[in-house]
Amino acid sequence: MGPIGIFDSGYGGLTVFREIIRKLPQYDYVYLGDNARVPYGTRSFETVYAYTRECVEKLFEMDCHLVVLACNTASAKALRTIQQRDLPKQPGVRKVLGVIRPTTEVIGRHTDTRHVGILATPGTVKSMSYPIEIRKFYPDIAVFQQACPMWVPLVENAELDSPGTAYFVEREINLLLRQSTHIDTVVLACTHYPLLYPLVRHFLPQHIRLLSQGELVADSLADYLTHHPEVESLCTKGRQTRFYTTDNATDFEEKAERFYGQPIKAAKVKTLLT
Ligand code: DGL
Repeated sequence: MGPIGIFDSGYGGLTVFREIIRKLPQYDYVYLGDNARVPYGTRSFETVYAYTRECVEKLFEMDCHLVVLACNTASAKALRTIQQRDLPKQPGVRKVLGVIRPTTEVIGRHTDTRHVGILATPGTVKSMSYPIEIRKFYPDIAVFQQACPMWVPLVENAELDSPGTAYFVEREINLLLRQSTHIDTVVLACTHYPLLYPLVRHFLPQHIRLLSQGELVADSLADYLTHHPEVESLCTKGRQTRFYTTDNATDFEEKAERFYGQPIKAAKVKTLLT
């Protein structure tokens, strides 16, 4: 038995983890942020897969039987390969879940016009994961995507209130809305973006719904645990949480609070590169 693992390329997954722990406080958790190698969103498929696989293996070594990739880029580029190629080689029960499916399977409940906008990293956009996954559940929905390459670095550098950030947020929103005048729902499809929620809301016309993924992922995880007792029974329930980063632990502690909403203590784990 062991804790539930939560993984992200950096701090973004903390916006999802915050909602998971609110909904499922009874479990033990380990959070791992690959801060030494963030951002993932501009990297190749092979690189994102190699980094993600290494971090997932670290979480397995910490006795996690269930790992959530709280990162859209890793979910888009690495999840399927990990599930199909790597998990069958693991001894015992090891499960890895992502954040794209919990979002795409409920998106049809939010849109009336059936025109949905996706704001995401270049990697997530290029993977076409959102259009492909949404089509499986809702073939009648048209999906429009806009890559926001500057948003993760701006968030990671705490530039939330700077004029430069407002410029890039407004620019990408306009580029998205130019693709269709019927978009009535926009998804923040990167776990870093909830920190930009007020700014995105400011530039988005009021009639357009804006969705963050945290609650959707937490609901989906709760549902998964209910329907998979063979996995749930391997998750310890001691209400303990540990935080790890692949970079400097003090830096992580300083910045993490903005994403997690409360102070944390972190430790460093080594990767092949750090
Ligand atoms: N937080 C990750 C996501 O959800 C991406 C951040 C990055 O580019 O590393 O897509």
